[in-house]
Amino acid sequence: MADIIEIKKRGDRLPIIKTERLILRDIELKDISEEYVSWLNNESITKYLEIRFVPQTKAVVEKYILSKLSDTVNSKHFGVYDNDGKRLIGTVTLSIINYKHSFAEVSFVIGHKDAQGKGFATEALSAIVHYSFYDLKISKLIAGYYEGHIGSSNVLKKNGFVVEGIFKKKLINHDGIRVDQIVVGLLSKDV
Ligand SMILES: CC(C)(COP(=O)(O)OP(=O)(O)OC[C@H]1O[C@@H](n2cnc3c(N)ncnc32)[C@H](O)[C@@H]1OP(=O)(O)O)[C@@H](O)C(=O)NCCC(=O)NCCS
Repeated sequence: MADIIEIKKRGDRLPIIKTERLILRDIELKDISEEYVSWLNNESITKYLEIRFVPQTKAVVEKYILSKLSDTVNSKHFGVYDNDGKRLIGTVTLSIINYKHSFAEVSFVIGHKDAQGKGFATEALSAIVHYSFYDLKISKLIAGYYEGHIGSSNVLKKNGFVVEGIFKKKLINHDGIRVDQIVVGLLSKDV
């Protein structure tokens, strides 16, 4: 797991998490640029994401971000920033946080094309794994991805997630073909 350099707590807001090259924090409305909205409509980025079913406009994205800012208990939607926190390059989200059973689902996107392939998804996920286990004290993380999504599989594997199950032909991929959903998990005791 990559070292977190600093976690700055901010009351009800998400903390600011600093890693070697990235800053993870809540997305403010002023960060929602045309560029950001454009990745959310870019098929090459969204082809493995459920967001592909909902056309994104600035208004749709703002509504979503406002809903995330207003409830940081049940889900935590972090923006991933590089360049000293100035450029929003992606997101990592803890969704369906189940405090009773102490688990959460995690997902991630590095949407900025020139930020891909530099280890940023691995680094950002590593920070959220650390935050989930050591700060939130969650005991288990799960994630799921479409069969054939090598990028996602690699990022998860590099963070210690292991395949726990396969939902046979659960999803319809971007080519309209039914494919498996691979479910992976990581226990806090294993990191
Ligand atoms: C998949 C995604 C998160 C990868 O982000 P990234 O920052 O480029 O990933 P990393 O640089 O941390 O890559 C980690 C490893 O996976 C490999 N990898 C990443 N994307 C890959 C791809 N599309 N095909 C094959 N390998 C890939 C990298 O080569 C690297 O392996 P290495 O360390 O052995 O070189 C990013 O491309 C993305 O957000 N795609 C669109 C959204 C998405 O599909 N999110 C996941 C939903 S489950």
